[in-house]
Amino acid sequence: RVEIAKLFADKEFYAEKTITVCGWIRTIRDSKALGFVDLNDGSCFKGLQVVLEEQNLTNFKDIVKLNVGAAVSVTGTIILTPEMKQPFEMHAQQVEVEGASTPDYPLQKKRHSVEFLRSIAHLRPRTNLFSAAFRVRSAAAFAIHQFFHENGFVYVHTPIVTGSDCEGAGEMFTITTLDMDNVPKTEDGKADFAGDFFGKHTSLTVSGQLEAECMAMAFGKVYTFGPTFRAENSNTPRHAAEFWMIEPEIAFADLAGDMDLAEKMVKFVIRSVLEACPQDIEFCNQFVDKGLLERLEQVASADFGRVTYTEAIELLKKNNGNFEYPVEWGCDLQTEHERYLTEQVFHRPVFVTDYPKEIKAFYMRLNDDGKTVAAMDMLVPGIGELIGGSQREERLEALRQRLQELGLSEEDYWWYLDLRRYGGTKHAGFGLGFERLVMYLTGISNIRDVLPFPRTTGVAEF
Ligand code: 4AD
Ligand code: MG
Repeated sequence: RVEIAKLFADKEFYAEKTITVCGWIRTIRDSKALGFVDLNDGSCFKGLQVVLEEQNLTNFKDIVKLNVGAAVSVTGTIILTPEMKQPFEMHAQQVEVEGASTPDYPLQKKRHSVEFLRSIAHLRPRTNLFSAAFRVRSAAAFAIHQFFHENGFVYVHTPIVTGSDCEGAGEMFTITTLDMDNVPKTEDGKADFAGDFFGKHTSLTVSGQLEAECMAMAFGKVYTFGPTFRAENSNTPRHAAEFWMIEPEIAFADLAGDMDLAEKMVKFVIRSVLEACPQDIEFCNQFVDKGLLERLEQVASADFGRVTYTEAIELLKKNNGNFEYPVEWGCDLQTEHERYLTEQVFHRPVFVTDYPKEIKAFYMRLNDDGKTVAAMDMLVPGIGELIGGSQREERLEALRQRLQELGLSEEDYWWYLDLRRYGGTKHAGFGLGFERLVMYLTGISNIRDVLPFPRTTGVAEF
């Protein structure tokens, strides 16, 4: 059995050879003693044209009656067709029906809306758009692991169930073994988790960073790649309740080193995906986003912009009249601001650094001005924030003071403070939202269409 991707990769080798291919029928048509099947097996974007000839097939009459969506196993000879649209075809000698389909198969040969396809998440991976998206997703994940391994990083696994809110934004999904209809209440009427299985309030992690920091203090360079959860009720094309995040953490590095790593990694992944999935990217370039290929090729070689938050605010103020939310120093940047900076001012990815401490998390290193922290966000055209990272506060006293200012308890973070007591060196890291990266690589504009089974506000069916 040979995958169709292998045929495309080495058609000369397979020419005139008799092989077996298994897949699903995308289209089927017949006229008298001849039939044509477009067979797709998911190994690559393109399908294989299978030619059915009555004289060669004992079950010809049954096969040409098959419905779209049926699974078949075909044995036949590969014939090169250099003058045709497809570079080769298969002349079938034997066709076995592995699984028939019915005429009401929802994916008939016509254009379906993405909204309709979202309602059939179990079948949509068999369409052009979604098979491209999910193959790119796979290739990007592989490239990320490859990048870190080639650069000496250790892959670490951080917990999904956690007692600490890394981002301090209160966007955690609570985990409980209690019967929530009869959950005990505290005096002020809140759910009392004291008697729960874990004996304390536990949640699904929003980020593996704090645990990754522990591992970086042992291995020097580490990264995580796993699911994270946010209970933010944001019904936007860029937010999901469950998404995957890549979080490298590097000891002995500062913010500049952190940005260098982020830039190098994004460029590496773009180049790898362009190489691994040319048919998929070509399809996206043609049908999803016409400028995609040119943009990706440019980004893979251009230097990313770097600007401080304070400078960015000055640039944005010039356009305040056109924003829904005008900016001033101290405000958090909205997607409209992020996209303006990267699309209208820099025309390429840009890092914004040194944000006011009030709008960033407790663990970020305080700058000498006492007002800003050593944070960086990478903004990219079409999306806005792709990466959020920072140099971490490694000074014990400064960190304790920040916890106190924010009303966080030292007891909850005793282990995190310990890292600063025992060989706590300067270190930095970032988080890259994997779905946003796949959106960037495909031009797909809604996060629901790059997650195989999206968990977003209002979606519970799958
Ligand atoms: O900026 P964030 O919140 O940073 C952190 O969680 C840090 N602890 C990362 C670190 O320094 N190790 O999230 C990082 C990235 C964002 O830039 C964004 O791409 C993505 O995660 N992200 C989301 N993606 C999809 N849906 C959501 N609800 C997301 N929230 C964040
Ligand atoms: Mg962020």
